[in-house]
Amino acid sequence: MAKKELRVGLIGTQFMGKAHSNAWSQVGHFFNTPVKAVKAAACGRNAERAKDFADTWGWQSVETDWRKLIARPDIDLIDICTPNNNHAEIAIAALEAGKHVACEKPMCMNMDEAKRMVAAAHAAKNQLTTVWYNYRRVPALTLARQLVQEGRIGKVFHVRAVYLQSWIIDPNFPAIWRLNADVAGSGSHGDLNAHIIDAARYITGEEITDVSAHMETFVKERPTGNMVGGLSASTNQSGGKVEMAKVTVDDAVIMLAKLAGGGIGTFEATRFAQGNKNGSKIEINGEKGAIKFEFEDMNWLEFYDASVKGREQGWVKISATTGDHPYAGAYWPAGHIIGYEHTFINQASDILTAIGDGNFKKMQPDFDDAAKTQAVLNAATESSKSRTWKSTGC
Ligand SMILES: NC(=O)c1ccc[n+]([C@@H]2O[C@H](COP(=O)([O-])OP(=O)(O)OC[C@H]3O[C@@H](n4cnc5c(N)ncnc54)[C@H](O)[C@@H]3O)[C@@H](O)[C@H]2O)c1
Repeated sequence: MAKKELRVGLIGTQFMGKAHSNAWSQVGHFFNTPVKAVKAAACGRNAERAKDFADTWGWQSVETDWRKLIARPDIDLIDICTPNNNHAEIAIAALEAGKHVACEKPMCMNMDEAKRMVAAAHAAKNQLTTVWYNYRRVPALTLARQLVQEGRIGKVFHVRAVYLQSWIIDPNFPAIWRLNADVAGSGSHGDLNAHIIDAARYITGEEITDVSAHMETFVKERPTGNMVGGLSASTNQSGGKVEMAKVTVDDAVIMLAKLAGGGIGTFEATRFAQGNKNGSKIEINGEKGAIKFEFEDMNWLEFYDASVKGREQGWVKISATTGDHPYAGAYWPAGHIIGYEHTFINQASDILTAIGDGNFKKMQPDFDDAAKTQAVLNAATESSKSRTWKSTGC
């Protein structure tokens, strides 16, 4: 019998637009989900580029105005891959139009937007919401959560998380949207710290209750210009003179945290960590054991079981690639590693399953959950401004 279809409308056609297009294309090849994703329409503001994108990735049709996409009765789910300043507006409009919504992270710009998105999700009927905190779908990181939730590391004392990049150290790198607070909200904080805050909450199952943070902008002004594919960039020139723009977001953030269970955490996120490309790492130390994960080595989880005594005590490096590991069994034989793109395929599979089963709460993080990561981000921003500890309200 033919499967029920979920017709997806994607907004934004660059980095995440590609990652999500790949996920919607591949998910049915690896997972036997109760409903089938159909790449119904891709939306980009430039008609020609949007058409090229749709042809490349197999989207059935093109829109240039997201409002028209949302108004289409043949679209079931809106997938938001645009910069952060329009997540809330698009998500709320899509929910009001009766669509399921999958929104890129960070969820939005501030708590006011987060609350309005949560309210729209609560007012919605039989609709799924989710935020693409895709690191939750790395098999090794999901395994870390399973071990911690099964009590294998016991009471959590420490979370130590860093997210280290280096792509804007060059002061001539242009002031793209990610460096503009009106569009991005924040810099390394909402972009990178958001991921490790979410990972810490996900693995420990504990909320972050209080934070103290400091944010720094090392390069305060940059040439205006744009990205030209990958991480190369072009700058604007007028009469041979380079136009400059103020950088209005943080280049780096450090954050101390208290956890609901009594543990403490340190978080560092930066785009200035020379020598690091995408160094997202987390270590969690508990009473009975510890876990360690590094994204650039994402097929592995390190686990320390303190109940192993004597000469064999030590870190065990687990290849999270077998049928016993979350998601991994859907792909290749053991030890045949997977990559970044699979995290999005895994999340797409969970979305299709939750919708097929009509069990929308099964899909986490939903807007309720992601709003808690947003609350931590917001409290940290307030803390950095006021130079005091702030409660997250979580
Ligand atoms: N989950 C992750 O690991 C991850 C990684 C990167 C980015 N992101 C998030 O994804 C989102 C997009 O980031 P990106 O790296 O893809 O950015 P990008 O600059 O590569 O792409 C943004 C796209 O949005 C389009 N766009 C902007 N405004 C639009 C509008 N009004 N209507 C239609 N299209 C519009 C742009 O033209 C572009 O195609 C951001 O929220 C970012 O934080 C998440």
